[in-house]
Amino acid sequence: MGKQDNIYEKGNLSGLPFSFNEEVAEVFEDMIERSVPGYKTSQSIISLYAKNFYREDTNCYDIGCSLGASSFSILQGANRAKIIAIDKSAAMIDECERIFKNYENPNSLIFLNEDIMESDLQNASVVVVNYLIQFLGLDERDILFKKIFNALIPNGILILSEKVHYGNKFENQRIINTHHLFKSENGYSDLEISGKRDSLEGILKTEHEEDHILRARKVGFTKVEKILSNLNFRTFVFSK
Ligand SMILES: C[S@@+](CC[C@H](N)C(=O)[O-])C[C@H]1O[C@@H](n2cnc3c(N)ncnc32)[C@H](O)[C@@H]1O
Repeated sequence: MGKQDNIYEKGNLSGLPFSFNEEVAEVFEDMIERSVPGYKTSQSIISLYAKNFYREDTNCYDIGCSLGASSFSILQGANRAKIIAIDKSAAMIDECERIFKNYENPNSLIFLNEDIMESDLQNASVVVVNYLIQFLGLDERDILFKKIFNALIPNGILILSEKVHYGNKFENQRIINTHHLFKSENGYSDLEISGKRDSLEGILKTEHEEDHILRARKVGFTKVEKILSNLNFRTFVFSK
């Protein structure tokens, strides 16, 4: 386990927007586990789907890999899988290289410090995109979905996890309040919660869960399943 996240202990004094820099990379494991309800379950589910859907001589992609948690989960389910893990944060990729340096089969795991919009994806049986789409522009989301769909082999899958919002203002506020309670229960103070929220303003842009489903159908995915729903976080599996 990495260091404890206390970045916003004093709020967002600097007023700086959130960024996946070295400071965040150092505490990211703790940050995501204490902030995302069902995060560990989503990782176990990735292992199960990798076990079922990985095909020999294909690639698995972990897009927006941060510290490589999903890559690790893929390997738990399919230890012969070839994984390409991509993140545009150099700090995250450096941490990945450090974390996985003693991994016994280094050829099967490649880390790329790239913007996913520039990446070339191909011959994929399993693609994981965990909590990345929310950091892209709306046009980029459509382009990325199309790129993933085109890279998948028949019956290949995209596992997508995202924070979502609700159409109804009252219900949306209620779920946000409950999510804040979840974070309080995990040891974050009100000041830390509001400091992080302020720094994410305009950076993390959620959509309604239906938007993700519609986008998947629009690019051609034939089977669409919602497999996890934890407060305002969802995991979907889209099959080609
Ligand atoms: C919330 S984190 C992802 C968490 C990770 N998938 C997991 O399950 O632990 C979002 C990650 O996406 C990366 N990211 C954001 N925009 C990106 C882009 N255009 N291309 C590649 N990575 C990007 C960030 O650097 C960050 O590490």
